[in-house]
Amino acid sequence: MIELSLDDFLALSESEKLPFLKDYGIFYAQQFSRQDLDDYNILADRCRTLFKSRDGAQFMSGLLSNRFALNFFVQPSSRTFLSFSAAQAILGMKRMSLRDIKISSMSKGESLADSIRTFLSYVDLVVMRHHGEDAAVLAFWIAMKSHRRLEVNGTNRPIPIISGGSGTKQHPTQSLLDIYTLSKSFEEIGGIDGKKIMLVGDLKRGRTVRSLSYLMKNYRDVTLLFAAPPQYQMEEDILVFLDENNISYHMLNSIEEGIGDADAIYMTRIQDEWDDQVTDRHPEAHKDFIFRRAYLNKMKSTACLLHPLPKRDEIEVEVDYADDPRVVYWRQERNGMWMRVALIAKLFGCDQKILT
Ligand code: CP
Repeated sequence: MIELSLDDFLALSESEKLPFLKDYGIFYAQQFSRQDLDDYNILADRCRTLFKSRDGAQFMSGLLSNRFALNFFVQPSSRTFLSFSAAQAILGMKRMSLRDIKISSMSKGESLADSIRTFLSYVDLVVMRHHGEDAAVLAFWIAMKSHRRLEVNGTNRPIPIISGGSGTKQHPTQSLLDIYTLSKSFEEIGGIDGKKIMLVGDLKRGRTVRSLSYLMKNYRDVTLLFAAPPQYQMEEDILVFLDENNISYHMLNSIEEGIGDADAIYMTRIQDEWDDQVTDRHPEAHKDFIFRRAYLNKMKSTACLLHPLPKRDEIEVEVDYADDPRVVYWRQERNGMWMRVALIAKLFGCDQKILT
């Protein structure tokens, strides 16, 4: 249970909310420690290996076969929605989805709060993507207030709520899969510690790059290179967080400025869905922030190229088909499914069964 009123809870800063979240709410990258990240990486690897055999897949599909999941995605999504759905299927969960407010009773005027309370009557996990910055936090508060509890390894817990991306601020599970991908890419060269990571594009409204920046608090001697046109540069609150946590960063005016130095290049598209005036025509990427085929020749031999996807013109199409192992964004989206298997398995306390 939570004693705070909804208004008081919503008024807390992200860091003030962290102690309430425990394992029942996944909203902010700041909530993960280095130990959490290392554990998730090991668990994701184990799930991937186990699922390769028929016996392993059968074992996994029995783990949560008595649980129901709702994927409440009322903002556009392909890979977060599908990878969560696939992850739930791997663990044997029964799945439901709601993808359009217009076909829910919210179109009849039901509040989001009442709708969430209704969802919690039927399901044991809610994964949600909603345009509202606080929608997942509201769902968490309602789950904490609800008398419905799940019995997990002998304890009674609130129904967990996972944010699949909310507003422009955070995409916590994307940052987990990004860390998994970076860790795998740097396996032979000492892991993420000490690396230079260049983030490119719309850093201002890109929730993936914000969440990934927060996670850098868990690594030693990382330098972030922010390559963006001035109007899309990283927001001040992230820079303050980096300063407070002694994480170095530099602002760059083009990809070329950092390409030879970076250990990872993380591209993003212009997030024009947040423009004041949304039209059918997407704005073009600025020429200095397009990853060109020729840049593969300038990248370090050990570097990797990531993108949370979807992408548009910020990466030349030839890069997709260059058959270069340093281009990892398609592997990155597959990694997302395994990381989400690991996340759900841990939330429901079956991680030790998988590991042993
Ligand atoms: N990376 C990501 O969140 O992709 P979708 O919007 O397709 O879910």
